[in-house]
Amino acid sequence: MNQRLTSQFVRFSFSLLFSLGLAASGFGQADTSSKAVSAAPAGATAAAPAAGSGDPAAGEGIFKANCKSCHAIGEQVVGPALKDAHKRWPSKAAMANFIKYPQKTIDGGNAYAKGLYDKYKQYMPNHDFLQPADIDNVIAYIVRESENPTAAAPVAGAGTASAEAGSSTSGEDSSGLLAPVIGILLLTLVVVIILLVVVINLVSRILGTKREELSEDDLDQMEGKIDWSVMFNHPLFKGVVAFVFVVIIGKTVFDQVYAVGIQQGYAPDQPIAFSHKLHAGMYEIDCNYCHTGVNKGKSATIPAANTCLNCHNVIKTESPEIKKIWRAVEKNQPIKWVRIHNLPDLAYFNHAQHVKVGGIECQKCHGPVQEMEVVQQFSPLTMGWCINCHRETVVKSGGNAYYDKMVEIHQTKYGTGKMKVEDIGGLECSKCHY
Ligand code: HEC
Ligand code: HEC
Ligand code: HEC
Ligand code: HEC
Ligand code: HEC
Ligand code: HEC
Repeated sequence: MNQRLTSQFVRFSFSLLFSLGLAASGFGQADTSSKAVSAAPAGATAAAPAAGSGDPAAGEGIFKANCKSCHAIGEQVVGPALKDAHKRWPSKAAMANFIKYPQKTIDGGNAYAKGLYDKYKQYMPNHDFLQPADIDNVIAYIVRESENPTAAAPVAGAGTASAEAGSSTSGEDSSGLLAPVIGILLLTLVVVIILLVVVINLVSRILGTKREELSEDDLDQMEGKIDWSVMFNHPLFKGVVAFVFVVIIGKTVFDQVYAVGIQQGYAPDQPIAFSHKLHAGMYEIDCNYCHTGVNKGKSATIPAANTCLNCHNVIKTESPEIKKIWRAVEKNQPIKWVRIHNLPDLAYFNHAQHVKVGGIECQKCHGPVQEMEVVQQFSPLTMGWCINCHRETVVKSGGNAYYDKMVEIHQTKYGTGKMKVEDIGGLECSKCHY
């Protein structure tokens, strides 16, 4: 094959590779790398804490997964704008502790935190499921974004104070990012091709002056009879195409997997403006009064309309919202409450096991429902969340003959009376998976 054609092609390929590499690394920094790190926090935590400064890139992924439904850097969403939040706390440790246990900090008498709560009238959920290094990273991300905001992703529907907006965007922002990436790649390709045409033109004009000295092959080439099939069949070209495909498909798959099923903060509008804050908070109606299943079995159950009528046959009967209850009862149709918490079918969760046997308060998993005007999903409901709690929680064995023996064995075997859920099989796959 003609030497000049080859060298030209090699140059073309190199510039193509180079620009693709640039584009790909740019988008890696913006997004994938951070997600990749956050998906494997163990590795990141091992490396990070040395400087005690945290890794903002890793923090970005954690922020997107856990904070974005309620926070943006530059504007108030459900919670305050986080720009310069680190300057509002006396130390990073204090800030980290607040992020981990906001309710404890607020109720513990921290005046600044109390002020925040008075303003936002809502506890931020505990983040005790995050590793200390994750929280460092997320703070590093807040610091970085405060100092020089990159693409400070605005939350769709920000300002509507609807946490639902946050949860639905978590699926969208991945595909939203993909479009510009493909755009950049295509643009780079076009620029490269234009440059090449210009260069080829230039070269052929210079060479044109010494036409008679050229070989036949070179003449062919100059006159534009380039054999494109040589290029398309070249392994380098195929490699580049394959590379682009792998990057794009890999990113899509990664994002999908990452975003699957996490619905924390989900708070849909309900058909009737039923307020837990009013009923469970102000009037202190016991959760069990309505959610009668919690001590009996798997499901907590949502009360039937008739339960509401126990009171509302006399209370506020003229209210349009209460009339909706009557309408449902008269038509003998259940009220179509929108389900908020939803584990996938593959997982088994039992309320009685946790509430009655385990003695865990509803609020530990559902947050301060008695303060919520509209119920929202408080915990992530991921496998990691279940497992973390099973690792940390000591089984309440007192007065349960079944456990007494196990505790005894535990004491003799491990020299500790503290029997955690993991010790009674709480980490076995089959306990939670059908
Ligand atoms: C469900 C909504 C929600 C989520 C999720 C949430 N926050 Fe908050 N956050 C709040 C609210 C509300 C406040 C105001 C304080 C209060 O009332 O508890 C707040 C306050 C804060 C503050 C104090 C701000 C200041 O001005 O000093 C920081 C820092 C903070 N959040 C960080 C985070 C981080 C980091 C995450 C994710 C790991 C997160 N938050 C997740 C709702 C949320
Ligand atoms: C007067 C009846 C009543 C009382 C009392 C009550 N709830 Fe509810 N709860 C409902 C109704 C009705 C719904 C469905 C509508 C909604 O989501 O607001 C619901 C929904 C919920 C949900 C969301 C269910 C889902 O769809 O995933 C949770 C969690 C919850 N309640 C927890 C509690 C807790 C915890 C308490 C006690 C602090 C409590 N409730 C007290 C009536 C009640
Ligand atoms: C144990 C008694 C009790 C039960 C059971 C009860 N409520 Fe109420 N509800 C009240 C009281 C008390 C008020 C406050 C009335 C007032 O503001 O004067 C109220 C207020 C309301 C309001 C606000 C009405 C308005 O226009 O201000 C709605 C909506 C409502 N309840 C829906 C329900 C639904 C739906 C159920 C069943 C899931 C239910 N309630 C069950 C006692 C009850
Ligand atoms: C250990 C954590 C945990 C505790 C404690 C807990 N819940 Fe739940 N709750 C969940 C999970 C997980 C789901 C989702 C279950 C599913 O989708 O199968 C859920 C779902 C619900 C639902 C939706 C309907 C249903 O049964 O699936 C209601 C209502 C509810 N919980 C109320 C309560 C009340 C009231 C209490 C306290 C008496 C309570 N929960 C205690 C974890 C908990
Ligand atoms: C707040 C802590 C906490 C969370 C969160 C939690 N659990 Fe548990 N779980 C417990 C405790 C405590 C027990 C032990 C109850 C007992 O005494 O039997 C338990 C027991 C269990 C058991 C029975 C284990 C056995 O060996 O008998 C299953 C199954 C289970 N949990 C599933 C889940 C699933 C699924 C989730 C997540 C959706 C979850 N749990 C979340 C605290 C928790
Ligand atoms: C304490 C309860 C619990 C235990 C123990 C547990 N899982 Fe899970 N697992 C869950 C829950 C809850 C989900 C659903 C989480 C979600 O939707 O994010 C889940 C999801 C999964 C999924 C689907 C992941 C996905 O992204 O859809 C797989 C696979 C899985 N578990 C495998 C296992 C294996 C293997 C084991 C044993 C080593 C195990 N689980 C032990 C609670 C548990």
